[in-house]
Amino acid sequence: RGKRISIPQIRGRKGGDPLVCLTAYTTPMARQLDPHVDLLLVGDSLGMVLYGFGSTLPVTLEMMIAHGAAVVRGSERACVIVDMPFGSYEESPLQAFRSAARIMSETGASGVKLEGGAEMAETVRFLTQRGIPVCGHVGLMPQAVNLAGGFRATGRSEEEARRVMQDAQAVAEAGAFAVVVEGTLEPVAAAITAAVPVPTIGIGASPACDGQILVAEDVFGLFSDFKPRFVKRYAELGAQIAAAAAAYAEDVRARRFPAPEHCFLPKPAPRAGG
Ligand code: KIV
Ligand code: NA
Repeated sequence: RGKRISIPQIRGRKGGDPLVCLTAYTTPMARQLDPHVDLLLVGDSLGMVLYGFGSTLPVTLEMMIAHGAAVVRGSERACVIVDMPFGSYEESPLQAFRSAARIMSETGASGVKLEGGAEMAETVRFLTQRGIPVCGHVGLMPQAVNLAGGFRATGRSEEEARRVMQDAQAVAEAGAFAVVVEGTLEPVAAAITAAVPVPTIGIGASPACDGQILVAEDVFGLFSDFKPRFVKRYAELGAQIAAAAAAYAEDVRARRFPAPEHCFLPKPAPRAGG
């Protein structure tokens, strides 16, 4: 109790030591990551990474709440933030508040994250003024994949660069405690970091950002449907799981498993005259 990193502490890291952030969707993963990170994001990327959807659009509020609660149970130190899924907040500030209130009360998370820039500023203000900390998310916004025509980095043209900058400033101005900057040209992400008064958390952005985030399964080699340029793999756990499954299969087929130490054997009968 009381040892969790708070929203003001995250906010206070502007210009300081980089914020270390990773996604987590489950209790066991949260337990492993908690000692090492400042912030655990229950990202709606779980739709693609855990559920095999082709985009994040089919993810529901119920899914985010179930996984958010699991990550809160598996952590004690990290600040836990839960993504608002597509369709749960865009309609109006009122709709967003109802959805965010459910996330907050049913998971125990410290805040929510939502995608959008200037057009979402009013919603960000509405939530923060009512006690719900909001993290912004600008640049490449996966929930807008259909409009963008794919997952493509932004900020290449002057117009795109101006747009991302204005979006980040709008959500920060509206009260966001931090802003995720995704898939944005490096100098643009660096300029945004210099311009906004709250921490920027980069993914496919810039080392100048106030923090970095990656999808844990990407980092550990547990998701290989595709590997974006911005991912750095620190382990190949997917290959290790495949090798372990093959070894288990061989043992079962050869009746090497289970061995006596894995079996409940009857007590040997007492010997006569023993
Ligand atoms: O859903 C997610 O995992 C995210 C992060 C990659 C920022 O939004
Ligand atoms: Na997300």
